[in-house]
Amino acid sequence: MNKTLQNFRSQVIELGYSYFYAKALLVAVKLDIFNRLGESTLSARELARKTSCDSRAMELLLNALVGVKILGKKDAPSGRTLYYNTPSGKEILVKGRGGFKIRPYYVGDILNFHNTIWEGWSQLEESLRKGKPISQHQMYLEDPAVTRAFIHAMHNTAMGHAESLAKLVPLKGAKTFLDIGGGSGAFSIHFCKANPGLTASILDLPKTLEVTREFVVSHGMKNRISLLPGDYNKSLPKGFDVAFLSHIIHSEGEKENLALMKKVYKSLNPGGKVMIQDFILKEDKANPPFASAFALNMLLYTEKGCTYTFNEIKGWLQEAGFQSISWPKLPLPRDISIVFANKPA
Ligand SMILES: C[S@@+](CC[C@H](N)C(=O)[O-])C[C@H]1O[C@@H](n2cnc3c(N)ncnc32)[C@H](O)[C@@H]1O
Repeated sequence: MNKTLQNFRSQVIELGYSYFYAKALLVAVKLDIFNRLGESTLSARELARKTSCDSRAMELLLNALVGVKILGKKDAPSGRTLYYNTPSGKEILVKGRGGFKIRPYYVGDILNFHNTIWEGWSQLEESLRKGKPISQHQMYLEDPAVTRAFIHAMHNTAMGHAESLAKLVPLKGAKTFLDIGGGSGAFSIHFCKANPGLTASILDLPKTLEVTREFVVSHGMKNRISLLPGDYNKSLPKGFDVAFLSHIIHSEGEKENLALMKKVYKSLNPGGKVMIQDFILKEDKANPPFASAFALNMLLYTEKGCTYTFNEIKGWLQEAGFQSISWPKLPLPRDISIVFANKPA
């Protein structure tokens, strides 16, 4: 076997095994290992007792997490081995002091959410055979606890770049910002913070807005951000300088997205700007890799959702009347990108 084939073969085998690491991490989050450790050091036996697990099995889990440098461990003078959160681990895996005192870069909620969608991914073969989602129910509409978990998960991912994005994208002279399906409000919060003259309206489903309200209040933004219960597939309010759609189009089919762009056009003032943030595909529909993999997530969980290419999005925007449609390279994490367009003045 030549070196190139050997390397490729190893990469493919490693990809197949990658769920070992993922599941170890997700179960550790589910057992609340990182919050239980917090600032302290604990032995495997102590953590096993706190989580009602077997001591030897807990030691195996903790060592696997040390192996991928998510936890640290040291030998105490007593001879016991103690495990601890690394400084970076504390920033992202320890929630904070409770309530809404969540550390800004916390990722435990999105990791925990993967424990939920893991069940769906285990049915991928079935979904592929049927070409349909594994269940008919909308994950955020049914159970308030699921809505809360989902919106907290979305907040974790949004907080990875909401602040830097708001500083990166100038909204010169804009006074009104419509955040369509705004979720936790992370982007509205940061666009308002970066633009003192801006007020935002978050349009979302009523149950989601109950969670949104808590985030908006905890960030001290309730005077700048209003919450509008509604359904973006029915109607949108009018009179906005900027419309922002983050991770919305991937849940909808092409027909719905074209109709949505037409509604967005009407909701904007002349000269207004729309920003569509998503996992946008290159024309090959395979890259960036996360965008093509995410399409499978949409197959599992939605009737018509998918990820789309820039030209598909551009087509909807043009048909709706938008001009100056662009897809600039921005320094955003996890293959996220943004399409910009303007309504003529
Ligand atoms: C994937 S989340 C994105 C949240 C947020 N924009 C972000 O990027 O963090 C989708 C959001 O759309 C909302 N949503 C779903 N269907 C909707 C509808 N028909 N009308 C209004 N909001 C909707 C959900 O409640 C959720 O907040």
